[in-house]
Amino acid sequence: MKTFLLTVAACGLLLTGTAKEPLYRDPTAPLAERVDDLLSRMILREKLGQLSQPLYRSDDTTLDARITRGEVGSLVVAHGSALAPAERDRLQRIAVERSRLGIPVLFGFDVIHGYRTLFPIPLGIAASWNPELAEASARIAASEASACGIDLTFSPMVDVARDPRWGRISEGSGEDVLLNAVFGAALVRGYQGDDPSKQGRIGACVKHFVGYGAALGGRDYQFTELSERALRETYLPPFKACVDAGAVSVMSAFNDISGTPASANALTLDRILRKEWGFDGFVLSDWKAVTELQEHGIAADGAEAAVKALTAGVDMEMTSDLYLTTLEQSVREKRLPAALVDRAVRAVLRVKFRLGLFDRPFRSHPEPDRMLLTPEARRTARQLAAESMVLLKNDGVLPLSPDLRSITVTGEWAVSRDLYGWWVGMGDGRDAVTVWDGIRSQAGRRTDVRLMSQSRSRRSDVAVVCVGENGYLFGENNNRSDIRLPYGQEQLIRELKEQGNKVVVVVFNGRPLDLSAVVPYADALLIAWHPGTEAGNAVADLLFGKRSPSGRLPVSFPKSVGQLPLFYSDRTSGRPGNDRYVSMDGQPLFPFGYGLGYTTFEYSELRLSKSVAAPGEQVAAEITVTNTGGMKAKETVQLYLHDKAASFTRPARMLIDFRKVELAPGESRTVSFDVTPRQLAVLDAAFRPVVEAGEFEISAGGTPSELHSRILTLKR
Ligand code: NOJ
Repeated sequence: MKTFLLTVAACGLLLTGTAKEPLYRDPTAPLAERVDDLLSRMILREKLGQLSQPLYRSDDTTLDARITRGEVGSLVVAHGSALAPAERDRLQRIAVERSRLGIPVLFGFDVIHGYRTLFPIPLGIAASWNPELAEASARIAASEASACGIDLTFSPMVDVARDPRWGRISEGSGEDVLLNAVFGAALVRGYQGDDPSKQGRIGACVKHFVGYGAALGGRDYQFTELSERALRETYLPPFKACVDAGAVSVMSAFNDISGTPASANALTLDRILRKEWGFDGFVLSDWKAVTELQEHGIAADGAEAAVKALTAGVDMEMTSDLYLTTLEQSVREKRLPAALVDRAVRAVLRVKFRLGLFDRPFRSHPEPDRMLLTPEARRTARQLAAESMVLLKNDGVLPLSPDLRSITVTGEWAVSRDLYGWWVGMGDGRDAVTVWDGIRSQAGRRTDVRLMSQSRSRRSDVAVVCVGENGYLFGENNNRSDIRLPYGQEQLIRELKEQGNKVVVVVFNGRPLDLSAVVPYADALLIAWHPGTEAGNAVADLLFGKRSPSGRLPVSFPKSVGQLPLFYSDRTSGRPGNDRYVSMDGQPLFPFGYGLGYTTFEYSELRLSKSVAAPGEQVAAEITVTNTGGMKAKETVQLYLHDKAASFTRPARMLIDFRKVELAPGESRTVSFDVTPRQLAVLDAAFRPVVEAGEFEISAGGTPSELHSRILTLKR
């Protein structure tokens, strides 16, 4: 009897419990039902609160009250400032326990190439041509960031960028569509995993949608003139790849696209992103991009800017507060349908549920420091940094012999800790291994290693000159009209050579540089980008031959700033080969895909499974690569396509696939690629992909000047 009564009482409690608990709080309920249930309980002001992402400021005395009132959907923690994990959880407690509906806040931060452990800048990551390693770096970044209470990162940046004057070229994967797509998707997978609500994962916000990298003259924020064909062929595919990889959020860009700013662009945000691609996460504006619609000149006041942005498909507003302050009235006055507000709120709530914020709002690790800079993180950072570096010239001085009598290490970057680039997350320069430390730790016991800080007269067997551009010469709005090495560094290199040294130049850069004045004086030239925490160890690994350099350029290095923009996948003109200037040709100093190592590779002829096929039929291309040198090394096999006659002009060459393989001396590997209808397709007049009959040149190899080609004929 007693047991029966207890059971009845327990059931009663349970029943009353469930009856009281709203559906949206039930973690077992379907996501769409949770969203609808919550939305039905919200008043307009709370809805607009969810669409607001103010800037977090530690001295903000109004924040607690605003969160309590439900006016803060998300917070952006600015570059260079910090939000302590305990403070993050305190704010979250206010949202969850004191606001009327208990909707958690989403905490966003720029985790661009690492949080505390810094990996190479994204352009360097792409130079590794190793997406698995890129994914691993993002997984580590997510685990560090999430341990410190971050839920969303404003990464990856997949803006195809073809003008190195633009400072933000450092933040993406360079000039190529496929590299941006592959690396973007790898980073999304690394941040989010299969399920972004899991411990150690964070959401990814892909940016900057879209065309931002085409800024006129490389001047940041400048307008872009992009046809729908250019958007669809070049600028959109990397975003599509990230959306397909599950990215929960997309950031709308600052730039104007042929007359309609990206943050009020219904074609890109609504028709393409939502309707064609089925994206159901939320779109976040870039920093004040909604208010800037006034400066763009398409909105007379803030209220109009807010209506235009929201209507086009910008769901959440970063740092400005026009949604919160103007949209209530716009809805009341019927200038904005309430259904559009609901559409945006749904998108934001969906992501909050997807990230598990309702079910696990307090996610900072109890001892976050234990999660940072782990040995695994450092190992991955070292490998990725080494694989990101690109050897552009080597007359045989590298790898350095352990028997060298003397090495002089010099140049500003020899002891510099400015090795992280523009976005540094919560990186601390004191964690970084300098080049000087890296070289000292690996030099042979008999080698005299000296740092030459002042005197330039010292002669040694080898001078390692560490030069570059600092983290404030690239990144947001750090555009350069001159892309040569700054601060008299060219002269230092020349002098060292003239003094009789063998000169190894190591460059720490955030963009392709014009190195024409350096190449003649460099016996070896290594592009190190800004390599992150393990910089010095990675440089030393390569200089002393612990690893063979395996990076390949993800972007062309020009001979002169006058050639810009310059990229390998030009459309064919009516006069091929005529792309020249009076004073020089139109070829780069070092082309896309180029990079040397310490061994040699030989390639077989390219074989196609069929040389004649029907459109839509699958074809395989395979090539055998052999390590004919004396050292184990990695090689990237690159596969290119040229469509010889199509309904629209096509690039002279475009990368359609690649594979990085590691081979021991004497070892061969046959690498097989599927040549898919998607790769062969051209967009028709209505921008639908179609595979047309005709001839296609397929080429493969390890270096752009030595590709092996075959013709594939498609016949109806
Ligand atoms: C502006 C930048 O354009 C964007 O990339 C960044 O994520 C936001 N600021 C937030 O810091």
